[in-house]
Amino acid sequence: MRRRLVVGNWKMNPPLAGDADALAAAILAAVAPSPRIEVVICPPSVWLERIRRALGDGPIGLGGQTMHWADAGAHTGEISPLMLAGEPNKRLATHVIIGHSERRQADGETDHTVALKVASALEHGLVPIAAIGERLEERRTGAVEDVITRQLRAAVSEVGKRASHRFAIAYEPVWAIGTGMAASPADAQAVAGLIRRTLGEVIGAHADDVPILYGGSVTGQNAAIFFEQADIDGALVGGASLRADEFAAIVQAAAATDELV
Ligand code: PGA
Repeated sequence: MRRRLVVGNWKMNPPLAGDADALAAAILAAVAPSPRIEVVICPPSVWLERIRRALGDGPIGLGGQTMHWADAGAHTGEISPLMLAGEPNKRLATHVIIGHSERRQADGETDHTVALKVASALEHGLVPIAAIGERLEERRTGAVEDVITRQLRAAVSEVGKRASHRFAIAYEPVWAIGTGMAASPADAQAVAGLIRRTLGEVIGAHADDVPILYGGSVTGQNAAIFFEQADIDGALVGGASLRADEFAAIVQAAAATDELV
């Protein structure tokens, strides 16, 4: 049985380290731990170590917002999977977001680099959270199915060859990110169902174990109705993950709806 997964993507926030410490501490205090719900926060990489310390051995996991696929080398400004994972006796991140639309749009991320990164993350024992989603004009022109299946098939193209199938897919319609205009739960479920079926064609029965997250203007108010959908197992949360109470309410909604689906 797949577990629920709620991921907070802090993006390039907050700008001061002290505020990042305070936010991590507030989230730790506000989120009620539950063995059935996995909660991960993804701070800016420069703060991974200090946020790891702030979270201690508590129930909240740590993730990166991106990574390079290579272990080391001449890649200015990049982060390697080894750096994210940390030492065997001093683990840093357990998860990593791959292919967020902001990186696809502004940082040259492509289906091909997403495939390389997902494979590398699995290789290094990190759980990749591959983000896919259509732009507004693609929805308007009826291209959602094509875009989603193309991005998804690319993202998981290397997975079959790996021993680990521990990864997650985040469906994030680009037009819903940071706009306050979340997808309708029915539309989000339609795409999540397409993702589950397509995954089944690629990795067989393992598709049932893969958490599929919805992302795009998720709040404490609207989270529960997404989590009630058959193929939505969690959320990738941007803006609302910067407010501890709001983020805790989303985690709470994940727990409250867990028995229902
Ligand atoms: P949002 O961002 O929750 O602020 O819409 C989601 C994301 O970009 O992952």
